Amino acid sequence: MVLEPKVYIVGAGPGDPDLITVKGLTILQQADVVLYTDSLVNEDLIAKAKPDATVLKSAGMDLEEMVDVMKAAVAQGKSVARMHTGDPAVYGAILEQMVLLKKEGVAFENVPGVSSVFAAAAALGAELTVPELSQTVILTRAEGRTPVPEREKLADLAKHHCTIALYLSATLTKKVMKEFIDAGWAPETPVAVVQRASWPDQKIVRTTVEGLDEAMKENGIRSHAMILAGWALDPTLVDRDEHRSKLYDKEFTHKFRKGVTT
Ligand SMILES: C[S@@+](CC[C@H](N)C(=O)[O-])C[C@H]1O[C@@H](n2cnc3c(N)ncnc32)[C@H](O)[C@@H]1O
Repeated sequence: MVLEPKVYIVGAGPGDPDLITVKGLTILQQADVVLYTDSLVNEDLIAKAKPDATVLKSAGMDLEEMVDVMKAAVAQGKSVARMHTGDPAVYGAILEQMVLLKKEGVAFENVPGVSSVFAAAAALGAELTVPELSQTVILTRAEGRTPVPEREKLADLAKHHCTIALYLSATLTKKVMKEFIDAGWAPETPVAVVQRASWPDQKIVRTTVEGLDEAMKENGIRSHAMILAGWALDPTLVDRDEHRSKLYDKEFTHKFRKGVTT
């Protein structure tokens, strides 16, 4: 892959430097300028930038400063790797960057990454879509200082009784519990929290809706955590052969396999 003079908005993955796509790594290794979210992206990954690359941290910059840096680099014929944690499309604040880049006539391309929701599911050994239990995953966040649209209140979303993944909600667990209970969730519904999924100091806490806030306090978790809730998170599922899919069912015919009729 030969990089063009443009901005590559790249998902750096959840933490483990190996959890980046091959394309994302190639861009990182070849880019002339690397701008990364230093609060969340692993420095060990950024160390893979080429030795003469200009490496900049974005946490201390405002939006206009970031866009100015990227615009100036591209105007000089350079390629820019804008490294975002997880997948840039989820709470990545990339739209505002794309709006300004487009306005300035700066070309950009987005490259996906492994979002923390999937790193957390992997850490837990969980399938988020378990046949008959939940076939839907809602990616959302509890309402804190930043509002969520009225029609997306957690208590309303939770009425679907599906799997719910909560970003940015580690300090809002009292509220999360109340909204689940208001939506009619049983207090014993499983909840799993993964802090710093895929990092060496990853922490896993398994609890229930009613135990969530206490478990967060006991474990001192206040940031960098993914909260997954719903019956798909029941840790005993793996000991019970109760939720098989149709996909591998002997009697189920599909395009690639003819089922056996009994
Ligand atoms: C600004 S959002 C960015 C999300 C990111 N774009 C993604 O796809 O994972 C930051 C939030 O993502 C979650 N997060 C990011 N990395 C994480 C990790 N390694 N383990 C657990 N949660 C993580 C936390 O909820 C954190 O508050």
